Amino acid sequence: MGHGIAQTIALAGCQVQAYDSDSGLTSALHDRVKKNLQTMVANGALSNVDEDSVLSRIQRCSSETEALSDSDFVIEAIAEDLAVKQAFFSRCEDIVSESTILASNTSSFPMSAMASELKHPERAINTHWFNPPHIIPVVEVVPGVKTDEETIDKATTFLKALGKHPVRIHQELPGFVLNRLQVALFREMLDLVGRGVISAEDLDIAVRGSLGLRWAAVGPMKVGDFGGWDILSKVYQVLASEIRSDTSLPEVLQDMQYSGDVGLKAGKGFFEFPSEDQHEVVADKDQKFMAWAKLLKDAYQDSSDRS
Ligand SMILES: NC(=O)c1ccc[n+]([C@@H]2O[C@H](COP(=O)([O-])OP(=O)(O)OC[C@H]3O[C@@H](n4cnc5c(N)ncnc54)[C@H](O)[C@@H]3O)[C@@H](O)[C@H]2O)c1
Repeated sequence: MGHGIAQTIALAGCQVQAYDSDSGLTSALHDRVKKNLQTMVANGALSNVDEDSVLSRIQRCSSETEALSDSDFVIEAIAEDLAVKQAFFSRCEDIVSESTILASNTSSFPMSAMASELKHPERAINTHWFNPPHIIPVVEVVPGVKTDEETIDKATTFLKALGKHPVRIHQELPGFVLNRLQVALFREMLDLVGRGVISAEDLDIAVRGSLGLRWAAVGPMKVGDFGGWDILSKVYQVLASEIRSDTSLPEVLQDMQYSGDVGLKAGKGFFEFPSEDQHEVVADKDQKFMAWAKLLKDAYQDSSDRS
């Protein structure tokens, strides 16, 4: 995640000081970003880009202290381990100024827990990006209980300046909002596929060409308004008790864990991914993400032109 976040910030014209405890990854950062930029231009996600100038804004640092010094906004995308993140933020406070924003890209920990040892927890905030971070527009902005409004404003303004769509989350719930929705939907989808009600392939076709399209175009809550909540209330009452609601791992997932067929990295999940094709499969997926992200950007542009 870190390289895509660094790329997005440099592309927007800001200076980045990047550090990974794996020095090989820090050294490879410019190559990774360069490849991403070329793919984005080739797929129309960027009209043109001065690669050298973007890369010149990403300083590859040989220590954490070098990366943190004189920074206005820190974003950590390190290991998903609460103690590691807490220790990182404590070290930050010894180096950065009192006004520096401390942001985490954690997928799961509330900022209140990560900032519990901080002298100034009011400037700490979760900014939860989505993979690939240089393509997916939305970033969840989740303040901790001690985060102040100024920090929320600064984080939101910064993300907007990067071309992102920050969305404020008002309570520190596990999984924030979007991962909760993803799990809720996966529970039902995996149940239906596991029971043989629909194949994985047909489920993807069905969702992409119906719910996914409507949600991408206007969003699920507006789809509800268009459909009418009176009708949806009736459907809800009939179906709510029918859909899966327990907390155990769906059987189909248990089987996949057992067989080791856990997806792309194993060469097989619901679909087959021969190892010789994996690079192409990922490139094709990223290309599709870029095409749809561009459509979404154009759609937002159209609506702001009209307003
Ligand atoms: N992968 C995703 O889809 C995704 C999505 C949203 C959020 N996140 C979150 O982003 C963070 C990073 O996820 P990732 O998938 O990029 O993980 P990753 O393992 O690919 O990358 C983490 C990197 O951090 C480095 N690192 C670990 N500890 C470090 C330290 N103390 N100082 C400097 N570098 C350190 C590692 O060498 C590694 O390169 C996690 O908190 C994760 O939950 C991941």
